[in-house]
Amino acid sequence: MRIENPKIVAALPVLDVELRPRTSLAELTSLGIGGTTDLLRIKKHEAIPDLLTLLDANGVPHKFLGGGSNLLVEDGELLWVALQLARREPDVVLEGNFAQVDAAADLGRTVTYCAKHDLGGMEGLIGVPGTVGGALRMNAGAYGMQIGSYVREVKLHRASNRKIEILRGDQISFEYRHTSFAPDDMMLAVKLELPSKSYREILQGIRICNEKRRSSQPLGQKSAGCIFKNPPGVSAGRMIDELGLKGHSVGDARVSDRHANFFVNAGHATAKDMLGLIVDVRERVHSAFGVDLENEVVVWNA
Ligand code: EPU
Repeated sequence: MRIENPKIVAALPVLDVELRPRTSLAELTSLGIGGTTDLLRIKKHEAIPDLLTLLDANGVPHKFLGGGSNLLVEDGELLWVALQLARREPDVVLEGNFAQVDAAADLGRTVTYCAKHDLGGMEGLIGVPGTVGGALRMNAGAYGMQIGSYVREVKLHRASNRKIEILRGDQISFEYRHTSFAPDDMMLAVKLELPSKSYREILQGIRICNEKRRSSQPLGQKSAGCIFKNPPGVSAGRMIDELGLKGHSVGDARVSDRHANFFVNAGHATAKDMLGLIVDVRERVHSAFGVDLENEVVVWNA
């Protein structure tokens, strides 16, 4: 969608919002798939309520983009604009065992920065692409840990009242790949409380997780991580593998040879290919195991 309304165009610099016209979301998502729209880069959190009021008043639909690593965006000209927080410096500020982290901060760099200052706990998240805000929204986790366990405060823009608020950790529920945030709430910053550990010890944990991930996941390929959530007590990847579907493809969308719950873009996959593969694999798992797999990947329609 193009922002052409002169009222909006004139207001954006005042709000410190940068307009990047005709941005290809394929370039902003780890799957390398997605259509084109105008991107608005937000430099000041305080501008968000006014920006959303302006977009709403002028009938411009929008979606919040994080690091784009768990996202499948449809092809073609998109009928909404994308909003994204610009990275701020510094994006991590430490005080004792607390880390105040901007939502736009890169997750992996944040884990490493905290490690260098003897703050651990998040070793399992090393290698998970995306931003801290994205990890927070979906309660990212791996190797027995989840980010929600360390959250003490979250600064967010609340969709329901259009206000920037600070929630305490105990006011938020963090479940397996799910949180109590509303879909349109925008994560702005988080305060984590991390256990003290020596850098050496954390580094050892990081190495172990890195090794496990390298040996079981297709890290060098374009993917959105696991496509489906694991149903209670079972691994979606193992079920898909047992059906012999590794390498199975629709167009250039392919079930990874390394981990069957990772679907990779093996060339020029379209959203249509990827969605086709998701439906096909879900149906096969349903008929073989009677299990309905739920998407972990977030799908944005055009
Ligand atoms: N397995 C297979 N074939 C496969 C994949 C897995 O047989 O193609 C077997 C493995 O051998 C193992 C079991 O299934 O015995 C579980 O596999 P794995 O340890 O890889 O864990 P997972 O359940 O497939 C989950 C998370 C991953 C996370 C890993 C490690 C979900 C949907 N997946 O995968 O998270 O990295 O554990 O903690 O919760 C993600 O969320 O995007 C993600 C990749």
